[in-house]
Amino acid sequence: MYNHWEELEKSIHNCQKCQLCKQRKNIVFGEGNQQADLMFIGEGPGADEDAQGLPFVGKAGQLMNKAFQALGIKREEVYITNIVKCRPPANRVPEEQEATACLDYLRNQVILVKPKVIVLLGSTALKNILGKELGITSSRGKWIEKKGIYYMPTWHPAALLRDENKKIEFWKDLKQVVEFFKNTPN
Ligand code: URA
Repeated sequence: MYNHWEELEKSIHNCQKCQLCKQRKNIVFGEGNQQADLMFIGEGPGADEDAQGLPFVGKAGQLMNKAFQALGIKREEVYITNIVKCRPPANRVPEEQEATACLDYLRNQVILVKPKVIVLLGSTALKNILGKELGITSSRGKWIEKKGIYYMPTWHPAALLRDENKKIEFWKDLKQVVEFFKNTPN
């Protein structure tokens, strides 16, 4: 556990805990307000993210940005990261061992950010954070509170690119998050 962002980020840059380190161009650590009340957790970097070292900058990220804009969520005010910090080859789902190896970094990020709400983007984020038994289809759109943090599972933005109906549900889920902050005093 690191108490400072610089130390944590440095430790990730040298990371060789799993095989994903072999093919990465860049680590995708995370981006945004390090004291955000709202945090987003995706699955893992894709090709664009690997090339730029930043999360959700490809097609899925652009779709997420559109939803943010429409709902009045400012990207620079939230914190965005992933379950794994290095790109899985051909964008496959991270293997159990890869996710487990990387999870301590994410836990450390959550401890430093201290968010009130975490949006879990897709099945990989949901299962690794809240439990392998949970399915995204039945869990999405429903608040889960754990140790004082409110979790909102929703579709991964890449799923929206394939299915218009999921877009509507994704927006509804994020709308609940916006309402949460309207109704919760600071
Ligand atoms: N998909 C993810 O899960 N994370 C990213 O950063 C980009 C695409």
